[in-house]
Amino acid sequence: MLMKTQTTLFAVLGTVILAACGGEKDSPGIEYMPDMYRGPAVEAYVDYGQDPYYFDDSLVHAARNTQSARNAPVGTIAFNADQTKASYNFPYPYANTPEDYERAGLEVHSPLEMTQANVDKGKVIYTKFCLHCHGETGQGDGKVVTEGNYPVPPAYNGTQLGTLPEGKMFHSLKYGKNVAMGSHAGQLSQEERWTVIQYVKFLQAGGKMPGAVALGAAMPADSTKNVVPVVAAGTAGMATK
Ligand code: HEC
Repeated sequence: MLMKTQTTLFAVLGTVILAACGGEKDSPGIEYMPDMYRGPAVEAYVDYGQDPYYFDDSLVHAARNTQSARNAPVGTIAFNADQTKASYNFPYPYANTPEDYERAGLEVHSPLEMTQANVDKGKVIYTKFCLHCHGETGQGDGKVVTEGNYPVPPAYNGTQLGTLPEGKMFHSLKYGKNVAMGSHAGQLSQEERWTVIQYVKFLQAGGKMPGAVALGAAMPADSTKNVVPVVAAGTAGMATK
């Protein structure tokens, strides 16, 4: 009796196992809980509460092609517990008009202190995003200009830009200036724009801290050859805001 039951059991089991093998050479056959070794391809932004996996196939196209993550409503300000950093995310209330360019020059001020540390950080951004046009010392002699025949930007410390206020710099970085200088709003966050402006102001002052007295030799007549002069100790934090 026991033998018979065993034989029957083996026969049934064998049939099940054999049936599990598909005819196709590469087919895995019937799988026991396929979910365990075949994870669903998770699509970013699909609302899985609506996933057809849990409902039915008629939802496949509708659900998989519907974005569940929405853009933040217009005017949303990214939260930041640090108030200075939060202020970077406030909307810029000046339009891309000549009148607002003038207003920005009078009303917009950097939230950053003019410190050596900020200037150094600004230099890193400047080297990556501006140097190729504006040149190493801001004379408008970057490779794009000298080799690429690009319109020459005025020198930061020349007659045209020597007194350019930081608000106008920021405005031009946001909207671009005429046709030759594009907007950098897409490349640089507001914080990065203000940071690079610290370095532009440094170059505007001839490669020294604005308001600082440079020690040592007088600056060479050709300012493109000018190496950043030593800044008097204690003057590094002096701001000209
Ligand atoms: C593709 C070349 C190019 C790049 C890159 C570039 N600039 Fe300029 N920039 C120009 C030119 C050309 C002008 C002069 C535009 C004019 O007045 O018609 C200019 C003008 C400016 C001015 C004067 C704006 C004003 O209101 O008169 C500032 C400040 C400035 N650039 C800063 C920067 C900074 C900072 C960067 C890097 C984040 C940068 N630029 C990147 C070409 C460039």
